[in-house]
Amino acid sequence: LAPKDLDGWRVVVSAGGTREPIDPVRYLGNRSSGRQGVDVARAAADRGATVTLVLAHAAADPDAEARRHPGIEVVDVGTAQEMQRAVQAVAATADAIVMAAAVSDYRVAAVSASKISKEGQAGRTLDLVQNPDILAELAATRTGRQTIVGFAAETEPDRNRLIERGRAKRERKGADLLVVNEVGWARGFERPDNSVAVIGHEGAVLLEHHGSKREIADALWDAVIATH
Ligand code: C5P
Repeated sequence: LAPKDLDGWRVVVSAGGTREPIDPVRYLGNRSSGRQGVDVARAAADRGATVTLVLAHAAADPDAEARRHPGIEVVDVGTAQEMQRAVQAVAATADAIVMAAAVSDYRVAAVSASKISKEGQAGRTLDLVQNPDILAELAATRTGRQTIVGFAAETEPDRNRLIERGRAKRERKGADLLVVNEVGWARGFERPDNSVAVIGHEGAVLLEHHGSKREIADALWDAVIATH
């Protein structure tokens, strides 16, 4: 039986991958399945928290598991800007916010109202503009005793360099904790297991774990409780 050590906590988790429209039928997206974030939400709910899960496009299984869970309220979003609005709407009253979503760094500058045709176009350039950094905004505007957690998926195979990148990102974004993992063609995304390091204040490596995404979620909540 899970310990109810998050009883009374209000938690916001983002998960999945945002999609940025190009035209009515195409988008820019990423390979996030939403599994790690959904497991973070489920672990929190199982441990007694009231959970709002802001969910961008996720794979069928994690999506269904999140919706089935009685302790999770799912808010569906598509784009990074929709995710920003949905997260900001519930952030103020949250004790902890975990941004596990893969948020598109850029969006298309001018979305075409009609399907873009290749006729007479040998090549094409898409103009992109940067999306708001939701995690950095949350950290900059946080209220009171709020713990803010970010994720960083990096294609950096060297463990020490991965940790250094995580430390720099945690500082830059102002998060309390940053979960780093190596991603690549055969790692991280679309897999049941994950290898992570959790970086805390002063760049301390609070834990390193390889295991199921649910195990990692529970270890992360242990670290959040210890930090809070
Ligand atoms: O900079 P990078 O995209 O690697 O940062 C990843 C972390 O920042 C994740 O926690 C992700 O959810 C969050 N993020 C965000 N808004 C963005 C981009 C990333 O909140 N526009």
